[in-house]
Amino acid sequence: MKVLVTGGAGFIGANFVRRTIATRPDTDVTVLDALTYAGNAASLPSDERVTLVKGDIADADTVDELVRTTDVVVHFAAESHNDNSLHDPWPFVQTNVIGTYTILEACRRHGVRLHHISTDEVYGDLELDDPAKFTPATPYNPSSPYSSTKASSDLLVRAWVRSFGLEATISNCSNNYGPFQHVEKFIPRQITNIIDGVRPKLYGAGLNVRDWIHVDDHNDAVWSIIDGGRIGETYLIGADGEVDNKTVVETILAEMGFEPDAYDHVSDRPGHDLRYAIDASRTRDELGWEPTYIDFASGLRATIAWYRDNEPWWRAQKHATELKYEQLGR
Ligand code: NAD
Ligand code: TYD
Repeated sequence: MKVLVTGGAGFIGANFVRRTIATRPDTDVTVLDALTYAGNAASLPSDERVTLVKGDIADADTVDELVRTTDVVVHFAAESHNDNSLHDPWPFVQTNVIGTYTILEACRRHGVRLHHISTDEVYGDLELDDPAKFTPATPYNPSSPYSSTKASSDLLVRAWVRSFGLEATISNCSNNYGPFQHVEKFIPRQITNIIDGVRPKLYGAGLNVRDWIHVDDHNDAVWSIIDGGRIGETYLIGADGEVDNKTVVETILAEMGFEPDAYDHVSDRPGHDLRYAIDASRTRDELGWEPTYIDFASGLRATIAWYRDNEPWWRAQKHATELKYEQLGR
């Protein structure tokens, strides 16, 4: 099988490529990635079954040529960071909306199967005490330029399935953690701050809840959907990993040998979503998928060890990332 992975040099995409090469000997991978600040060719395995093409998913000619010769497209490429979207929304519209449109049109032209990677943030947020979780029937209610452009891309995919018979599936996953995540994101930012002797930074009171899942569990679910998912369906991916941000920071500090209160509160993110929570029962029941990283603390421990052991991978981005945060006052 030939798989085209867009955004395969980013966090989740690179882990997807690594897992595919390790577990699916019959599959060759082509990565299409613009290598933005978030992409890193060094995240990819060096393997003759992996080819990296540097290019933009909004470039119709490049996309057409690659889609024409593939069996399935797994579409990870996106601008992915909420804080950046609040500062400068345009790249989010361009990549997440126009880029996805370009992928859809190429898949339609060549009759190629698409799996579109999305986020639970398209559903907006929940109250802390709301017993409900997000399901595939939850109405879209995105809050930020990031989540609204991801919601737009999901709606385009749904329309291409209905209007043109495109063979596509969508997955909406909760917050991922694990190796190769950019140091702008919450967990790697705090781990690398602590390594650098800087106190972790918690937005606001830190009561916001995220539903954490290890990136390998996400990617295993993606393969389950490609192998057995129903065309046109949306599958939610989550591992019942709800934790508030304050507890995450305290756990990281304790795991790294510091007092759990050795962090600072900084100004909150505007429009900050309070809580996300996924009901993944469709994905579990229909496809038999189960997460394997059930214990968040031990997953965090392994992630901390990875950042300690792989400083050359993240060091180059750290300074510029913190400069950006300084300008945002966070
Ligand atoms: P990331 O920012 O780490 O990686 C994005 C990748 O896309 C980078 O390699 C970047 O170079 C590439 N890219 C950006 N614009 C491009 C363009 N125009 N053309 C080609 N390549 C381009 O993001 P991630 O965290 O790996 O997220 C991947 C996908 O998963 C996104 O669609 C995101 O919405 C979704 N998602 C992420 C999470 C999470 O917790 N990180 C959770 C659920 C869903
Ligand atoms: P993030 O990793 O940006 O993911 P998302 O916005 O997609 O959930 O942030 C996760 C949570 O952590 C979110 O509630 C914002 C918070 N946060 C902090 O408290 N401090 C930080 O330095 C960062 C980057 C995020």
